[in-house]
Amino acid sequence: MQRTPQTYTKSNPFIAKVTERYSLSSPHSVKNTQHIVLDLNGSNIEYHVGDCIAICPDNDPDLVQRTLAALNCTGNEMVSDAQKTGEWPLREFFTKKANITEFSRKLVMEIAARHPHAEKKDQLHHLLEKGTRENFKQYVAHRELWKLLQEHPEVQFTPQELCHLLMPLLPRFYSIASSQKMVGNEVHLTVALVKYESDGTLRHGVATNYLVHIAPMHEAAVPMYVQPHHGFTLPEDNHAPIIMIGPGTGVAPFRAFIQERVARSAPGKNWLFFGECNRAHDFFYEGFWQEAAKQGKLILTTAFSRDQAHKVYVQHRLLEHAKEVFEWLQNGAYLYLCGDAERMAKDVEATLHHIVMQQGNRDEQGAKAYIKELRQQKRFLKDVY
Ligand SMILES: Cc1cc2nc3c(=O)[nH]c(=O)nc-3n(C[C@H](O)[C@H](O)[C@H](O)COP(=O)(O)OP(=O)(O)OC[C@H]3O[C@@H](n4cnc5c(N)ncnc54)[C@H](O)[C@@H]3O)c2cc1C
Ligand SMILES: NC(=O)c1ccc[n+]([C@@H]2O[C@H](COP(=O)([O-])OP(=O)(O)OC[C@H]3O[C@@H](n4cnc5c(N)ncnc54)[C@H](OP(=O)(O)O)[C@@H]3O)[C@@H](O)[C@H]2O)c1
Repeated sequence: MQRTPQTYTKSNPFIAKVTERYSLSSPHSVKNTQHIVLDLNGSNIEYHVGDCIAICPDNDPDLVQRTLAALNCTGNEMVSDAQKTGEWPLREFFTKKANITEFSRKLVMEIAARHPHAEKKDQLHHLLEKGTRENFKQYVAHRELWKLLQEHPEVQFTPQELCHLLMPLLPRFYSIASSQKMVGNEVHLTVALVKYESDGTLRHGVATNYLVHIAPMHEAAVPMYVQPHHGFTLPEDNHAPIIMIGPGTGVAPFRAFIQERVARSAPGKNWLFFGECNRAHDFFYEGFWQEAAKQGKLILTTAFSRDQAHKVYVQHRLLEHAKEVFEWLQNGAYLYLCGDAERMAKDVEATLHHIVMQQGNRDEQGAKAYIKELRQQKRFLKDVY
């Protein structure tokens, strides 16, 4: 379907209000996953199910202050970006423009070049040598910009010099968890707070911390724009059956899919495989799924990984239902997979392969060809991250 070009972009975002923010996980959960509603009134934004929202976050003010302190700056110093697109006070530049949780090889090279201490200079040069990419990654993972600056007080930068050596603060993407047919001028997101300890310091993900803790409620404050999907959306055929596999935040687009199918009075069958840690603490949108199931609009299969001694994941449930899953595919079902790319998506794909071999009586090559054909027919669609 042809879409009109987006009015709002990275360089011209719409400034939305957060109107609702609540936890989808209980206080006893190992996770903190939140439902976040943004108000789009006044934007004329139209989105489709399967689209994402790009959020342009602010850095945490405490982190900004720590970075200013490491530079001995007040924050009022005026600076421009490397492309010289404008001028901002340093505090605003650190808040909205610069990546201050990570740093580039270019900055470390410059510190090494300016370093007065031979030993430290050598250490940094060693870190930058070819074949040490993993070492450099680890080095960055263990320190934010302020710490790097603090570790090398002998090397001085003017605010402007430093700003030209920083990477830009990039937008983060979130699957849309609502259908506009149901929620009008709102967009709903499912956001898992990134929180971890590194070298004794508590660290948060920039955008999730911003959405969960920093963005004020009911004030136009959150720069955002729509990132249209590239095929990851409902079939136009309302009769087509769909199988959705979405553990964790991967479930977000499928809430949108079900809202949309209900709004369209689509008769096609919908089957969701949802997985999280504990049923009691992490059953995101439980009431919504149960209601849809009660009305005959959804088949729900869950996998709570930590409710028993051994791990139970969505792919284990797929395997338990291998016969029906394969029958659905043979009957033209569309298959959707969303969530963690690193491990989950690979394991689920391996299981699907196995199911096609087992249920379709195919060898390795035959199963590969079957899945390839599903992809070519745009009936196996992934949105993994
Ligand atoms: C198409 C798409 C759709 C997405 N949809 C969603 C969605 O619906 N919901 C959602 O929550 N996310 C979604 N994401 C992920 C989201 O875009 C962000 O990447 C995520 O929220 C983290 O952003 P952040 O700014 O909070 O973290 P960042 O500041 O980017 O930090 C993340 C980094 O922190 C480090 N890190 C994280 N955990 C640890 C750890 N335990 N130990 C050490 N280091 C660690 C890693 O280096 C990691 O790369 C999606 C991504 C894409 C590409
Ligand atoms: N890079 C990584 O190592 C990594 C890992 C996980 C998540 N993430 C990222 O963290 C963010 C939030 O994650 P999330 O809250 O959406 O959920 P999640 O951490 O992906 O967890 C959701 C569910 O998936 C289970 N799971 C873990 N490994 C799996 C596998 N190989 N196959 C199938 N299921 C598996 C989890 O079980 P258990 O936790 O009990 O094993 C949990 O029950 C996402 O951005 C995701 O990409 C990154």
